[in-house]
Amino acid sequence: MAFYFKEPSRTFSEYLLVPGYSSAECQPKNVCLKTPLVKFKKGEEPRISLNIPMISAIMQSVSNDTLAIALAKEGGVSFIYGSQTVEDQAAMVKRVKDYKAGFVKSTSNLTPENTLLDVLNLKEKNGHSTVAITHDGTPNGKLLGIVTGRDYRVSRMSTDLKVKEFMTPLEKLVTAKLGVTLKEANDIIWDNKLNSLPIIDKDGCLDSFVFRKDYESNKNNPLELLDKEKRLVVGAGINTRDYKERVPALIEAGVDVLCIDSSEGFSEWQKLTIEWIREQYGDSVMVGAGNVVDAEGFRFLAECGADFIKVGIGGGSICITRETKGIGRGQATATIEVAKARDEYFKETGIYVPICSDGGIVHDYHITLALAMGSDFVMLGRYFSRFDESPTNKVKINGQYMKEYWGEGSARARNWQRYDLGGDKKLSFEEGVDSYVPYAGSLKDNVAISLAKVKSTMCNCGALTIPELQQKAKLTLVSSTSIIEGGAHDVVLKDKTSS
Ligand code: IMP
Repeated sequence: MAFYFKEPSRTFSEYLLVPGYSSAECQPKNVCLKTPLVKFKKGEEPRISLNIPMISAIMQSVSNDTLAIALAKEGGVSFIYGSQTVEDQAAMVKRVKDYKAGFVKSTSNLTPENTLLDVLNLKEKNGHSTVAITHDGTPNGKLLGIVTGRDYRVSRMSTDLKVKEFMTPLEKLVTAKLGVTLKEANDIIWDNKLNSLPIIDKDGCLDSFVFRKDYESNKNNPLELLDKEKRLVVGAGINTRDYKERVPALIEAGVDVLCIDSSEGFSEWQKLTIEWIREQYGDSVMVGAGNVVDAEGFRFLAECGADFIKVGIGGGSICITRETKGIGRGQATATIEVAKARDEYFKETGIYVPICSDGGIVHDYHITLALAMGSDFVMLGRYFSRFDESPTNKVKINGQYMKEYWGEGSARARNWQRYDLGGDKKLSFEEGVDSYVPYAGSLKDNVAISLAKVKSTMCNCGALTIPELQQKAKLTLVSSTSIIEGGAHDVVLKDKTSS
């Protein structure tokens, strides 16, 4: 006989938090949202922690390099979408890793014999305004000069002009010797009013650059998520088909963490993928898995060795899986059950495997609910797709700006690998839609507002950290009539445009 769950399957909107005692300490400025991204042993620290509990969805319409840079600056992580060629995905990862660091390896290099046209083409291709001029055009060749926007004027100069005619030569450059600390390098930049400082070795070969803008960026983004070499942290989605080619390319590009992207993760395909990664790389490569919606699915992936586990089937805003296939589970119920399984697994094994509630976050308070129910962080698609930094077109519809947003299981994305059950290499039917979402502005501004709300609610619950919230939260189910009570009611709203 089929198994029946006792509880109905519930969504976030069916719950509310009931306040707990807030001491005078409970102020948003004292709240810390740091949370583990990957598993760790009791008493040890995770290898990567997020500074905010948000990651962006593995989707064409959400996570490209631009969004990844913006989110890492705020303290979260993007998982670059895998429904593109291995080369294109690896290039996106590399662009995030190259974006900034204390000591940046130079990726735009030419020789003195190149022309202004070469400089312009390189600038167009890489987007960098500083080009190192080395004797052989390699990143570690003998440094002969640099070219920046200050060295040429396109309207006055022939594009045939050789670089040696207009570069700023080495003798006019302030440089520093390899071995200088980042702090010393930044002091040299300030003292000499420089935009960049080339670091050279004892033979005069270029090692790296330190840029003024990186210093300023770090001051403006105190939660910025950086690796050991002070580069932004980035993740990438993989699938259970081409991982033998995709994973090595992503690692080569510098990816920090992977995640198997699948609509249904309780499968042998995920086991085989994780096993292969462990055989090739041991524990050095971190990989999340999912999605699951119950304790059994969690236990399976935890035992396979997943570094974190995503929860959620059918709750995504663009998702029609429940309608087409009749599978899934309310996002709140799934999160609550998997969080319980995570805690039991921790008690039993001493290994804490973080979980991520993925999909179905509509209101900012849903983030707080997901965390209170035991999620360590949340994955968001629709939320991030609305911002300037998402990869999609901004269009005006009926006088309002919108951004496009489409599911990975839609005919537009055709990410058949996400729905793969080992059959033909094609998407047999759609599990997602193509849609618009209201344009909302910059990621930075919106994340700040959302997290201000999360912190405020946490204070109402007497919690200054996410683990404390999970311990102290008191949750109540709401009746359908009390949901009506929760919105503005029994008043005549003023027309916002007339005031
Ligand atoms: P959202 O934040 O509610 O928009 O949900 C985003 C999540 O929906 C993603 O992280 C995926 O887990 C899931 N998803 C993405 N594309 C599809 C699809 O086409 N069908 C079903 N689920 C999808």
